[in-house]
Formats: sequence, structure tokens, C-alpha cells
Amino acid sequence: MPTSQSAIFRLGLRAHEHLEFDLRPQATADAIRAACATLANGLGVQALVVGFSDRLWRLLAPGDQVPAHLAALAPIRGSAGLMPVHQHDLWLWLQDSGPDLNLDGARRAIATLEPVLQLVEDTQGYVYRDGRDLTGFVDGTENPAPDEAAAVAIVADGPGVGGSFALVQRWRHDLRHFEVLPVVEQERTFGRTKPDSMELPDLPANSHVARVVVKTADGELKIWRRSVPWGNATANGLQFVAFSADPQRFVRMLERMFGASPDHAQDRLLDFSRPETGALYFVPSTEALALLAT
Ligand code: HEM
Repeated sequence: MPTSQSAIFRLGLRAHEHLEFDLRPQATADAIRAACATLANGLGVQALVVGFSDRLWRLLAPGDQVPAHLAALAPIRGSAGLMPVHQHDLWLWLQDSGPDLNLDGARRAIATLEPVLQLVEDTQGYVYRDGRDLTGFVDGTENPAPDEAAAVAIVADGPGVGGSFALVQRWRHDLRHFEVLPVVEQERTFGRTKPDSMELPDLPANSHVARVVVKTADGELKIWRRSVPWGNATANGLQFVAFSADPQRFVRMLERMFGASPDHAQDRLLDFSRPETGALYFVPSTEALALLAT
């Protein structure tokens, strides 16, 4: 089986930077491939994930590398309003031990891609305390164990084998609004306790956990989450990043969050945080990526 991009699973690097680019109208497939070849030589960061939009991957890759479910993220409208979509063409996720190292790599990437891809989003993130969201709740408790993550995240066979689908959304928090809630209400918002992330025995139906746990005939839908906080003391939130072998799992969860599933219930978390970007990317295997570069 082809090798997945290892940085999907690389834990422990505390500084992250996310870049998203739009294809320039005059860019040719050959020129983009040449830029990708330069990227593949390395940006000098410890870990890098490269993801492509539906339209860019179809332009660059041979047909047998295009997975069946590849599509742009579609907007979702439910009782909680509209989930925005800003589908861009290329996503780079840089991880290192400090923001200075990512910054150098990001500047190198932007300069290399400049003739063919225009930078539209640049978000620096960081691991906060012991892996908490800025609301103070631990994020990642129910993630699959590292040795199960590949089975959850990586396409196991057929076109696109060894690749993964990534949902990338920058959520903006209203922390002042959240923090006036008594802790017991904060806990009912997420469905877990604040100090130690234990699931509440009487899980409220509109809690985040109750909305994103989706049970099907084949079992619970699983995704591999790698989100980190972004921002400063006044403007901040969560850079949500998750991987799945099947992008429909994201759609099912988002529909249940935004009140677009048959029960029309919505996630209480949306009272305190909203996505301001959102895109779906295909993260090809390292072999498929190397082929592009040649
Ligand atoms: C502001 C945005 C978000 C925040 C602050 C947030 C935070 C959290 C927290 C604190 C937990 C509980 C601990 C854990 O298991 O990790 C959790 C669980 C989870 N979240 Fe989110 N989340 C956000 C958005 C999303 C989105 C957009 C999705 C899916 C598309 C999602 C999917 C999940 C899943 C699958 C779980 C595990 C549920 C379980 O099995 O118990 N989250 N999230």
C-alpha cells in the first residue's frame, strides 16, 4: 500500500501554520507541477501536509489517482443558519517546535508558489496547555488511538489509495460570551467535564458530543482530529482540522451540528463559536505526490 503523508499523524510539535491558496487563472498544469517539485524538496520544517482541492487534484493527477468521493465542500444550511464554505485549491499545514521555524517555511512556500497560486489564508496555531481548546476543554479525548488512526483516516484501496480527506475550518470563538456561563453549563455545552474531560452521564441532546457522535448500522463514524487554537487575547478560536477515509463522515457531523439533519436539532457550541472559513482537501499519498513532482 502507498505511504500516507506522515505529518497527518505526527503529534508533539506545538507550533502550526496553515496556508491556503487559490489557483491563478493563467497557471498551467506543468507550471504547477514544477512548483510542487520545488515544494517537495522541503520547506525546512519538521512536518508538512499538502492537500489539494477537487479541481486542482483533477487537473494534476492521473485518473487512477482520483478518489471516488472527491468533491468541493458544499455549504450546509440548517436551523443554526449557514455553514460558510471557502473552498481554496491548495492547503499546506506546517508543524514545528516554534512559530519562527514555520514562518520561514511559509515564506519560502509562498514565494515558490507565487507564479501559479495566490495566498488567501495564513493562520498560525499552537498547542494550548495540555491539548485544550481556548474554552478550557480538552480537545481530542475521543480521538482514535494512534495505532487505529490510519484505518480511520486513510483510503484503504481503489483510486486515491494511501490518501486522506481533510476538513479544514477556522472557527472564531466568542470567549467572553462562553465564559460568563457557569462551569456546569459550559460542561453541558460540550457534554464533558472541564477539568478532566469525562463524558457527562446525562448527556444533553444539544451538546457538542451528542451532535457529533453519529451511529450507523456499521458502527460509530470515526474521524482523526488534529485541531489547535489560533489567535491572540482578543481574536481567537479553533483551527479545526480532521482527516477521514470518507468525506461523507464530515458532512454527516456538520449537518447534525448545524441543524440540517432530520431532527433539526443543533449543536449548542454554535452559540459561542462559528466557522469563518471551510474547505475540503485531498491529501494524496507520498508516492502520488512524488509522481506529480517528476
Ligand atoms: C469550535 C469548534 C470545535 C470545538 C471547540 C470542538 C471541541 C471539542 C471537544 C472539547 C470535544 C470533547 C473531547 C474530545 O473527545 O475531543 C470534541 C469532541 C468531538 N468533536 Fe469537536 N469541536 C469543534 C468542532 C468540531 C467539528 C466541526 C467536528 C466535525 C466535523 C467535530 C467533531 C468531533 C468529534 C467526532 C468528537 C468526539 C466525540 C466522541 O466520540 O465523544 N468537532 N470536540
